[in-house]
Amino acid sequence: MVEVFDISDSQRMDEALAIRLRVFVDEQGVPLELEIDEHDREDAEAVHALIRDDAQAIATGRYYVVGAGCVQIGRMAVLPAWRGRGAGKHLLELLEAEARRHGFAEAQLDAQVQATHFYRKAGYADFGEEHLDAGILHQPMRKALF
Ligand SMILES: CC(C)(COP(=O)(O)OP(=O)(O)OC[C@H]1O[C@@H](n2cnc3c(N)ncnc32)[C@H](O)[C@@H]1OP(=O)(O)O)[C@@H](O)C(=O)NCCC(=O)NCCS
Repeated sequence: MVEVFDISDSQRMDEALAIRLRVFVDEQGVPLELEIDEHDREDAEAVHALIRDDAQAIATGRYYVVGAGCVQIGRMAVLPAWRGRGAGKHLLELLEAEARRHGFAEAQLDAQVQATHFYRKAGYADFGEEHLDAGILHQPMRKALF
């Protein structure tokens, strides 16, 4: 089951942030103050998504607008026990479909280098240089949505 919402839905935001804290802060060591940003607190246009297995929220991701016709997808996180079973792919397709439905022509993202294969399989191509963010090496990638 998939759910799309915005920051006004505080209950779902709490569930999404709980997954992100577990994956990015606890597992990957990202500082808490970098993990939660303005797109979680103030950006009413940002689109957040959850996937549930029965009632349990097991995956989350979001996008926000970065320019005319373009969204930035990010904070893609699947709980460890559910990885490798298609949840990440499903979530990415959901975010892309939602962006497409709102008329956005391109999605871009900063992929952790260990996740670039996942995004390449979904049709994303590298652009720009690798860079460090929160101590993790990232590769900018993008995909045309139409
Ligand atoms: C990256 C992540 C979101 C992928 O989600 P997932 O549910 O494990 O991936 P899926 O099962 O949907 O995999 C989709 C495809 O990508 C492939 N894939 C997934 N992770 C991969 C990896 N690390 N390396 C290579 N291929 C990978 C799968 O084999 C699958 O291929 P297929 O369609 O040919 O079968 C998830 O592993 C995760 O949350 N990791 C920790 C947080 C993280 O690194 N997030 C990304 C930040 S940029």
